[in-house]
Amino acid sequence: MGFGAKNTVQAPDATFAFQNKKVLITGGLGFIGSNLARRLVQLGAKIVLVDSMIPEYGGNLFNIDGIEGQVQINLADVRDEHGMRALIRGQDYLFNLAGQTSHLDSMEDPYTDLEINCRSQLYILEACRRHNPGIRIVYASTRQIYGAPDYFPVDENHPLRPVDVNGINKMAGEYYHILYQRIYGMQISVLRLTNTYGPRMRVRDARQTFLGIWIRRLIDGMPIDVFGDGLQKRDFNYVDDVVEAFLLCASRQSSNGKVFNLGDIDPITLIDLAKMLIQLNEAGEFRLIAFPPARKAIDIGDYYADYTSIQSTLGWSPRTRLREGLKETLEFYRKYKSHYWELSHETCVASPAGQS
Ligand SMILES: NC(=O)c1ccc[n+]([C@@H]2O[C@H](COP(=O)([O-])OP(=O)(O)OC[C@H]3O[C@@H](n4cnc5c(N)ncnc54)[C@H](O)[C@@H]3O)[C@@H](O)[C@H]2O)c1
Repeated sequence: MGFGAKNTVQAPDATFAFQNKKVLITGGLGFIGSNLARRLVQLGAKIVLVDSMIPEYGGNLFNIDGIEGQVQINLADVRDEHGMRALIRGQDYLFNLAGQTSHLDSMEDPYTDLEINCRSQLYILEACRRHNPGIRIVYASTRQIYGAPDYFPVDENHPLRPVDVNGINKMAGEYYHILYQRIYGMQISVLRLTNTYGPRMRVRDARQTFLGIWIRRLIDGMPIDVFGDGLQKRDFNYVDDVVEAFLLCASRQSSNGKVFNLGDIDPITLIDLAKMLIQLNEAGEFRLIAFPPARKAIDIGDYYADYTSIQSTLGWSPRTRLREGLKETLEFYRKYKSHYWELSHETCVASPAGQS
């Protein structure tokens, strides 16, 4: 199966929960969606991947290399209310991951972010309510909705104060999901993801994660740019662990109506992260540069999560240590870089890079 579809055996009951079940993944050709699809293929699910393949986003057909014959692809946009209705009918599970992920883009084009991350979520939920109320849904929310934290580690009771348009729309998307669970008794749970990394993430630019562009630059022999003093602390989850969290949420009744943080055991400063990557790569350098003003305005500073709620409710914890996950990620991109480096060198350097 190759990189990033390992059974980390956190969801043993998932082995049976998805066998021959119909599963719809919105954003299924993207980073997390495609890794989830690879795991669900192993578990015997009948999978439909919905993705719009907008070039600026994370969708990439190579993400399903090796499983393309075992999944059905539907190139559709979640903004198409009628199309979504037809796709949702008859499905057993919905993993709702389609999203505009760039914080900077959400500031430059707030309406597109609103349409995808907020309005479309209502289309999807309405389609489920009217045409498939028994479907089990897991929604991909984000730690971005907390904004700049008041305390650490950040638990689910922390106030929500998003610092950008993307955070506000993702918060609304999450709230709609929880509302529909509460009012209509639908089976829905939410994961607030922290920085997720691993094979198949977008590395062309920093639209999905700054770690992507760092890895690309490192492999290309270019210095990694660390903004500010580099002492910002963050937590990171390897994508296989995140996939297991999605499976646990979907397969366990006890997740219903719950909102869970994901997080890692040890937060790390961005400087130490850069040093770790350089060491694993056995070459490279980093440089501290001033925060671009547009980035600084929406930066949240330190962030790391308290994930004890999902740990005690579903038994989830991050299994992949950062060093191990980064090593695997570097190996993946060294091997498959031609499929992820599509833009020219100049475009990569000029593209927005940041540490969200
Ligand atoms: N990767 C992370 O660190 C992270 C952190 C927090 C939250 N999330 C959330 O997880 C989800 C998946 O993120 P990802 O990292 O896999 O990003 P991604 O960009 O790789 O995946 C999102 C996918 O959604 C698709 N998409 C976007 N707009 C669409 C539309 N209108 N219709 C259909 N498909 C559309 C994209 O083409 C892409 O393939 C997103 O909702 C994101 O907000 C991710």
